[in-house]
Amino acid sequence: MDNHATTPIAPEVLEAMIPYLTTNFGNASSTHPFGVTAKDAVEKARHQVAELLGCSPEEIIFTSGATESDNLAVRGIAYACREKGNHIITSTAEHHAILDTCRALAAEGFETTYLPVDKYGMVNPDDVEVAITPKTVLMSFMYANNEIGTINPIADIAAIAAKHGVFFHSDAVQGIGQLPSNMATLGVDLASLTAHKIYGPKGIGALYISRNSSQPHSLFYGGGQEEGVRPGTLNVAGIVGLGAACELSKNYMETRRNCVLTLRDALHQKLITHLDDIHLNGHPEQRLPGNLNLCFAGVQSHALLMGLKSVAVSTGSACDSESVKASHVLVAMGIPNELALTAVRFGLGRYNTAEEVDVVAEEVVKVVNRLRAFAPEW
Ligand SMILES: Cc1ncc(COP(=O)(O)O)c(C=O)c1O
Repeated sequence: MDNHATTPIAPEVLEAMIPYLTTNFGNASSTHPFGVTAKDAVEKARHQVAELLGCSPEEIIFTSGATESDNLAVRGIAYACREKGNHIITSTAEHHAILDTCRALAAEGFETTYLPVDKYGMVNPDDVEVAITPKTVLMSFMYANNEIGTINPIADIAAIAAKHGVFFHSDAVQGIGQLPSNMATLGVDLASLTAHKIYGPKGIGALYISRNSSQPHSLFYGGGQEEGVRPGTLNVAGIVGLGAACELSKNYMETRRNCVLTLRDALHQKLITHLDDIHLNGHPEQRLPGNLNLCFAGVQSHALLMGLKSVAVSTGSACDSESVKASHVLVAMGIPNELALTAVRFGLGRYNTAEEVDVVAEEVVKVVNRLRAFAPEW
């Protein structure tokens, strides 16, 4: 139940990829038949991605994943628009792929504004409008948060960005394939996605670049692949996997989207029935269907995770060998440090079952009760 971290490769996706890891090994830039076969597969995948995003295939650039897409969008647009202005707006609850990229740009002389989020982790579009200056060239706000699942009012923010002639990038990793994914409806100019969150392989992603956007400066020098925006030999098997994963996600959203939501709510219900003092983090309704981020007061999340022998979940906190820090997202939402250190993220996915929900609920209740019995402050 850690599907926000990553998802298994769907059998259909693996099946689509295998020929491109074996017999069809050509370089998509070669002109002989091996290359043509590879190129055809890449273009088919580009269409599959575009179909999910409701955009044109020419608006898709393949990358190595969302970290690269985020870097390419934010740094690439910042460099491309340098003459026009040097101000970038984002929020304090973004993924580190955005936060650290903005920090790096600040060190290069760009101005950066980090907007606060509300108690649910949501950006207020009014704050966005106030933050825009004549020097603002780009804003970047995630579609849905990877820790607490809160969905930002992307279309409202996009309208403000368009009104002021500012480009709008969204890290849409957690939203695409789970939520309506039409780029024109969302109104964004650029959006990052990655295959491994939608039952595709790791190490492959894409950046949507609307026709209305400036072309981001390339971050790499090399061959002219992907319009020169992202040079490098194409990861054909990965791209085929991303395309297949997008096609599956489209079908899944049309038919089975509510299944995960039902399981997620059943898990929540079971936990609150058997345990006191549990706090839901994130928006009660405007939240990813599979997301359940809870604070179990009095129980350190790392102790809970270690106690859960057969359940894969994650903490809402970043941890290294020296220290355990409260999640920057929970801190940005104003959750006190002590409570934030008790957060656990359940990320339900396409393959979880009602039986698993029962097992997880039972085990969590057992371990929380045991740890609370030993917690002096409890
Ligand atoms: C919101 C968000 N952005 C970016 C990333 C990074 O994606 P990738 O693993 O493809 O580099 C992740 C993955 O953890 C994510 O959840």
